[in-house]
Amino acid sequence: MIEEVLPSHVRAFEAFEHVPFSTLRPQEATLVAKAVEGRRREFATARYCAHQALDALGAPDAPLLATPRGLPVWPEAVRGAITHTTGYHAAAVADASRVAALGIDAEPDRPLPGGVLESIALPEEIAQVTRLTARHPGINWDKLLFSTKESVYKAWFPQTSLALEFEDALIRIDPVGRTFSARVLPPALVAAEPGLSTFAGRWLVRRGIVLTAITMDAPTSGRAPAGHRPDPEHKRPPITSVSSP
Ligand SMILES: CC(C)(COP(=O)(O)OP(=O)(O)OC[C@H]1O[C@@H](n2cnc3c(N)ncnc32)[C@H](O)[C@@H]1OP(=O)(O)O)[C@@H](O)C(=O)NCCC(=O)NCCS
Repeated sequence: MIEEVLPSHVRAFEAFEHVPFSTLRPQEATLVAKAVEGRRREFATARYCAHQALDALGAPDAPLLATPRGLPVWPEAVRGAITHTTGYHAAAVADASRVAALGIDAEPDRPLPGGVLESIALPEEIAQVTRLTARHPGINWDKLLFSTKESVYKAWFPQTSLALEFEDALIRIDPVGRTFSARVLPPALVAAEPGLSTFAGRWLVRRGIVLTAITMDAPTSGRAPAGHRPDPEHKRPPITSVSSP
């Protein structure tokens, strides 16, 4: 289902079931060697998704390591994002010559716990959630808002290394077109990163999952940055998944 929230030049892979821990490369396995079983399983499955997506992009095969803070270290000239939640794991990657920033997020399709909306949403966003809930019942708009902000963070942070608080981005959700926009508000952040101050994304609710994605296309520069270049002859289908029937 992730292909519905991403453009065709982004390669993605999703898994609804865990894959074996043995699919991890040895260097990746050391990153979660001391983690509990559930964490190891979600990490291995998401890494598997990432490798499938990178392969579809034509990126060189290499372990996908992480910074000490857990940020995936994507191959040079690749933009990527990972998400996982109960029963769903996904990764999306794109060539940096085409995509400047990428964020994906999946959450269980359940309302936020009491009091959380007030701590993550601006007053304008709370009013929006109230309005959407009245007009379009059946969608957990509070959880969707939360997920859009997580996608914003994942698109923002890897490019900027700057903190972005929940109140720093104003989200507007289009309930009909299943899109959303985000605007970074603090003037200091906008001044520091003028090219990343607005984002556009898509959303989907299906199979008990709230899924959001942001793709910011790169300014058309023509030439790919040094390093990885996608294989123009690559014929594999762009989107695949691991899923129960
Ligand atoms: C980092 C964060 C966005 C992860 O989101 P999450 O919903 O908790 O978890 P997800 O499963 O969707 O994503 C986890 C994956 O994100 C990736 N990730 C971790 N830190 C990241 C970061 N700083 N930037 C981008 N991606 C990150 C990792 O690949 C991780 O999976 P892995 O450890 O198995 O490799 C979240 O924990 C967080 O810190 N949020 C607070 C910041 C925020 O959202 N601000 C709002 C801005 S409007």
